[in-house]
Amino acid sequence: MRLDVINGPNLNGLGRREPEIYGTQGLDELERRLRAAWPAVEWSFFQSNHEGALVDRLQWAEGHVDGLILNPAGLSHTSVVLLDALLALSIPVVEVHVSHVLAREEFRRTLLTARGARALICGLGLAGYEAAARHLLEPEAGA
Ligand code: DQA
Repeated sequence: MRLDVINGPNLNGLGRREPEIYGTQGLDELERRLRAAWPAVEWSFFQSNHEGALVDRLQWAEGHVDGLILNPAGLSHTSVVLLDALLALSIPVVEVHVSHVLAREEFRRTLLTARGARALICGLGLAGYEAAARHLLEPEAGA
């Protein structure tokens, strides 16, 4: 099983950026946690601050991995481009947000990209990525 974890703009600052909202653990720690929890999975990780690079990665994912965990970050609230890229995929995608976006500013309640995902997880911190992985790897567990 191959899973790709894609993080969007500003998530390279996770762990240092607004720690009261996003916590103190960064993408390195996320990668360590996922690899430790599921050592048999063929993990790949990608982060970009650029919308087009994220589209390229989503297009690459089809045919290269079996599922995607995606945090589109701020682009979730605005990007028809990312939504269209997601709608073209046949592999399952779980959208994750570290923070509870629905309980924050009004503009964060619009989640355009989530329409292209199988499921949406928010507010669990980094554990949200683990919940997403669990769903993709053991779908019957959440049935
Ligand atoms: C975020 C929430 C977004 O609203 C924000 O723009 C981010 C991070 C989250 O993981 O909580 O950059 O996607």
